[in-house]
Amino acid sequence: MNVLQQILYMVSATLFVLGVRFLGSPASARRGNALLMGGMGVALLTTLVFIPHFSHVALIVLVVAIGSAIGVVSARRVQMTAMPQMVALFNGLGGGAAALVAAGGTAPSGLADWLARLTMILGSVSFGGSLIAFLKLQEWLNVRPRYFLGLRVAGLVMLAMAVIDGLAGHASGSPALSVLLMLMAAVTGALLTLPIGGADMPVVISLLNGLTGLSAAATGFVLDNPLLIIAGTLVGASGTILTQQMSRAMHRSLGNVIWGQKVVESEGGGSGGPVQPITPEDVAMLLRYARKVVIVPGYGLAVARAQMEVKQVTDLLHGFGVDVLFGIHPVAGRMPGHMNVLLAEANIDYDQLWEMERINPRFRETDVVLVIGANDVTNPAARTQVGSPLYGMPILNVDHAGHVIVLKRSMGRGFAGVDNPLYGDPKTRMLFGDAKHSLGALVRELEGTA
Ligand code: TAP
Repeated sequence: MNVLQQILYMVSATLFVLGVRFLGSPASARRGNALLMGGMGVALLTTLVFIPHFSHVALIVLVVAIGSAIGVVSARRVQMTAMPQMVALFNGLGGGAAALVAAGGTAPSGLADWLARLTMILGSVSFGGSLIAFLKLQEWLNVRPRYFLGLRVAGLVMLAMAVIDGLAGHASGSPALSVLLMLMAAVTGALLTLPIGGADMPVVISLLNGLTGLSAAATGFVLDNPLLIIAGTLVGASGTILTQQMSRAMHRSLGNVIWGQKVVESEGGGSGGPVQPITPEDVAMLLRYARKVVIVPGYGLAVARAQMEVKQVTDLLHGFGVDVLFGIHPVAGRMPGHMNVLLAEANIDYDQLWEMERINPRFRETDVVLVIGANDVTNPAARTQVGSPLYGMPILNVDHAGHVIVLKRSMGRGFAGVDNPLYGDPKTRMLFGDAKHSLGALVRELEGTA
């Protein structure tokens, strides 16, 4: 490898490492993103300039142009709420690309061939699994629990067949077996992801990210490309660490997520006692005279794009001398850090955002909790209802507070598709409506009492 190429790869790798470092804090995350984009730009240009087969350059430029155009258009058009599914889709394409590159570069024998087959399996599992994750996040696919066991067994059988195919393909070097290997691995990823939902979805998404990173790193070994090894390892390591953190936060082991627990189909068991609505005027009075208020944001806040109104409510309450904090559940929303990003957009002070373990003991001394578009992460069924897809997931203990006000549009269920007994709790009042409208009305009421 040319010295200049090595130096440029080193620059790119340094930008990647620094970028990931800066992503660690919301204050420096934008800078981190810029560094990562710069690193990727240097990597792409260096690879293109030093490409050994000049006859392919035109084709590569064409393909990069088409891919970039699709990427730019879809990234500009995507709604903020659809971001997680887009990330899942792009992640799957990364895995699929790694598998195809490994298949194209297969050596007749030796370590490189084993690595190539491993990459084909990892990348294709990630591709198939990510496609299913995309369909589930897009809410285009919903699988009934009664099929879960069959899907899991079929997934493991398919994986075993893919491994046997890999062994046979290594011995014979047949291209047809490589194609079959990728197909079987993609189906494995799809079958194993299909039954995963509810509280386990975030864990599987991080796992798929990690798999794509590992497959890219393995492709780096196959192609003898150090930058691909470094970049793939960074993604693989962050995905793996995130998977561990998510599983720990959800009190699930990885085996438990993949193999699952017995889930009972919800019969629409209702929400406990009668549901009691409340008006914005009454909510304003409750908040105005409270000492401690905790706001719990969820996916519905992102749908309503009501973060600015949340900031207004917070500022008004501070003006009345009310102590306001935010309770952030690790899987609130649809992607890791979703709520932090949303609230940071509205310039809500990061010190006000308390994580679940820290905020939970505080609910008993909290006068009012405002649950805005959150559902599953507050569902007390997670503590008691064995067989619920949420069972065992730690939740925000909002029902320990004096009053609970829930802002949502209807009695609609959350991502896990189960009823929430919190809504029938005698302490709970429902402020029905789009969160942006409800919060707007609340702001007007609070301003009126100033
Ligand atoms: P959810 O349980 O999905 O509940 C969101 C609630 O918001 C819904 O019940 C909905 O009720 C309400 N809503 C929707 N649009 C609204 C609007 N415009 N105004 C007011 N309310 C609105 O959300 P959550 O509590 O944040 O829980 C997250 C769930 O997603 C968990 O099950 C988690 O496992 C899963 N998940 C998370 C991730 C990550 S990494 N965070 C990834 C994949 C899946 P209405 O329809 O009645 O309004």
